[in-house]
Formats: sequence, structure tokens, C-alpha cells
Amino acid sequence: MIAVVLVGGEGTRLRPLTYTTPKPMLPIANRPFLEHQVEHLRSHGVDRIVLACGYKPDAIRAHFGDELDYVVEPEPLGTGGAIAFAAREAAIDETFVACNGDVLTDLDLTGLVAFHRDRGARMTIALHPVDDPSRYGVVATDGDGAVTAFIEKPPPGSTPVRTINAGTYVAEPGVLDLVPPGRSVSVEYDVFPQLVGEGLCALADEGAWIDIGTPASYLAANLERMPPGGLVDPTAVVDPKAVVEGSVIGPGCRIEAGAHVHGSVVLAGALVPAGVTMDNLVVGRTGESVW
Ligand code: GTP
Repeated sequence: MIAVVLVGGEGTRLRPLTYTTPKPMLPIANRPFLEHQVEHLRSHGVDRIVLACGYKPDAIRAHFGDELDYVVEPEPLGTGGAIAFAAREAAIDETFVACNGDVLTDLDLTGLVAFHRDRGARMTIALHPVDDPSRYGVVATDGDGAVTAFIEKPPPGSTPVRTINAGTYVAEPGVLDLVPPGRSVSVEYDVFPQLVGEGLCALADEGAWIDIGTPASYLAANLERMPPGGLVDPTAVVDPKAVVEGSVIGPGCRIEAGAHVHGSVVLAGALVPAGVTMDNLVVGRTGESVW
């Protein structure tokens, strides 16, 4: 199985971290996010991964080398344009997976592909149930899993549907014909509406799911993936008079005497000075970030 992973976005919501490091390479529990995603895809039988790159591809290529394939867009083509450009460049001519490169999930991709084939779908969207869908676009289906409607940011209580697009898709190569080359196309707004009633299906998955794209969710993803109690890189120096609880401390960090670090992420090389208290924060090297 082939997967196209979208990693070309600028990640503006995670600035300033993404000024220097593209979002897929930001660490989650002290490993680049994309390592977690590649591991998940491989565990479901994906044996070829094509990265749809745009912003800062060199940092990604330097890390993964020949393990992955890279297609670099000449200009940002949007989610749909990027999937199609990468699939055409990589000459994909079979059922394939496409996914956002910023979602930490353990969704059952094997089950999603089986459902897609069973329904004879042209494209299938993985859905994730949320308590409050009012910040998202929700996706409604009929009893057979055919998509019936997209409802963008529904006011609270206005719809019983609470399943959102989880950013993982299975597609037939024929859907690429719906994406005109050479211009920006959104899979969500331009491609899916054309497929409603024309072979677009969706399946809800109850598995873990975090979009790492905001400061709060980036912190949450780190805390979810750290071992119970926390994670301190062996090269970090934590003064015996510092208190570090339930946090991720990166390589080369220094936590000075009297510092208190709770539920936070300290990125590689950062200093937490004496007496400072951190609660639910992300910090990087001086001048790099503080959320
Ligand atoms: P923000 O600027 O913070 O919204 O982040 P983003 O640029 O990553 O945008 P967004 O979170 O909406 O993107 C979802 C996924 O699609 C991410 O994995 C992006 O890397 C990817 N993506 C968005 N736009 C493009 C694009 O034009 N080309 C490619 N190749 N990937 C894209």
C-alpha cells in the first residue's frame, strides 16, 4: 500500500518554532513527529510513503533520507492539489492512502481500507468523534457509510452529528481527475463536494487522535506520548534541587536549582533558570519560543 503524506504547510500557528523547523520535524516525546506517523503507517502495511513537500523539505529529507520518497511542489497547491501533484509525480495507479502530516493517531487504517473496498468507494474519509464539533467541519453519513453532507462549524446543539474529518483518506487513482493541475485546490472544499453521492464514504474511528497544529494540541500530543511520569533525555542536566513532573525534557536542556516544571515541554538545548515555575508551557532555546 502507498501513502501520500502532506507535509508542505508552513505551520503558521506553531510559529516561531516553525520558522526554523518544519512542523513534521517538531519533536513529540523527543522524536520528530513524522517518525511517529511513519511508524503508524508501516504498522498497517504501508510499504511506500511519498511526502508531498513544500515548506523546508531539506530538513525532512536530511532526517529520513532514502527511507521515504519526496515530491516538492513548485508552489503551495493546497491539500487537494498537493495530493494530486504528488500522486502524479509518483505515478500512483492503485488504491492509495492520503493523510495530513500533522495528526498523531492510532486509527485503524487496515479497517478503513477494508471498508473502502467493501463499499466500492471512490474515496473514503476517516472520521473522529468529538464532544463539541462547533470548531470543526462535521461530516454526516447514511447508514451505509455514504457521505450525505458537510456542515461547517455548526453552532452548538444545532446538529446531532459530531464526527469530524480526521485527515486520513483512502482514494482510487481516478479521483485525481477531479483535481485540475497547476493551481491551489482544497480536498475538503473543492474535491469532496464533487464526490457526495458519487462514491464518497466515511467511517468513524474511536482511536486516539490529536492534530498537533496548535500550541495547546502540540503540548497535549507530547504529554500523551510520554511514558507515565514523564520523559527526560539522558543528555539533559536536571539539578537535584529542581522539580520536574509529568514533562518532556529534550536533549541538552538544563533545569537549574529551584526550578519547577509541571506538565510542560522543554525543547532541545533550552535553559529553565533557577526559581522559574513552568505549568503547561512549551519553551525552546532563548528567543525561540514561549507559549
Ligand atoms: P497552519 O499554517 O498553522 O494552518 O498549518 P499548515 O500550514 O500545516 O496548514 P494545515 O494545518 O491546514 O494543513 C494540514 C496539513 O496539510 C498539514 O500536514 C500541512 O503540511 C499540509 N498542507 C497544507 N497546505 C499544503 C500545501 O499547499 N502543500 C502541501 N504539500 N501540504 C500542505
